[in-house]
Amino acid sequence: METNKPQKKKKWFLPLVLSLLLSTLLIFITVFTSSSSSSSRLYKTRVKNELPHFVESKLKVSATSKDPVPRLAYLISGSKGDGESLKRTLKALYHPRNQYAVHLDLEASAEERMDLAKFVKNEPLFTKLGNVRAVVRANLVTYRGPTMVTNTLHAAAILFKEGGDWDWFINLSASDYPLVTQDDLLHVLSSIPRNLNFIEHTSDIGWKENQRAKPVIIDPGLYSLQKSDVFWVSEKRSVPTAYKLFTGSAWMMLSRPFIE
Ligand SMILES: *[C@@H]1O[C@H](CO)[C@@H](O)[C@H](O)[C@H]1NC(C)=O
Repeated sequence: METNKPQKKKKWFLPLVLSLLLSTLLIFITVFTSSSSSSSRLYKTRVKNELPHFVESKLKVSATSKDPVPRLAYLISGSKGDGESLKRTLKALYHPRNQYAVHLDLEASAEERMDLAKFVKNEPLFTKLGNVRAVVRANLVTYRGPTMVTNTLHAAAILFKEGGDWDWFINLSASDYPLVTQDDLLHVLSSIPRNLNFIEHTSDIGWKENQRAKPVIIDPGLYSLQKSDVFWVSEKRSVPTAYKLFTGSAWMMLSRPFIE
């Protein structure tokens, strides 16, 4: 019994040492490769500052501003009953450098829209700097419908026309609320190339190919004054082949050249 003991010990000792060595080696390899790839990714974004590529080669890409601190252009939109929360969001997002367009859609009553327009007009800081405007020719906006996109583009056009040299466009809903101050946000953005777009997206559209890409929808917001949801036509179309479809988050920050 006593002579057997040391032999048993040896039997498991060698595999243990070997597996320990192997796992340490593996840990080293993963730590080393992941840190080197993430640092090279960081390096790439810092260096890349070239002009964005557009499919239309004749499209003139305007230069981004040289101002050391960027400016943001916001669209804050809401509907019936959102007037008060829209004011709250606007106050929380307000910064003298930025530009703002606020929009209550046609489902909101005329009084509610007037009330918002008055608020914008009577706030001393807003009038002094003139960087907040209410979209007076309101649109009817249907969630998920093309009128949502047209409304966004309408506001972007207004901000181009009246908003001067802003660098990024952000569209928010009245119910959104910032988690960082505008000073902090502008500070962080001041070191980032002005032509970068921020949007979560993927070309792996999964179930959306059948549920979103193939159905043909009608947006009542295009012809009716009464708000109702989009509705589906019985016919389906095939997935477009001339371009690739992506899906992503509703929250985004798009560069001025991209919006242009
Ligand atoms: C921003 O605009 C896009 C395009 O119109 C829309 O799909 C998205 O829902 C909007 N995001 C918010 C937060 O309103």
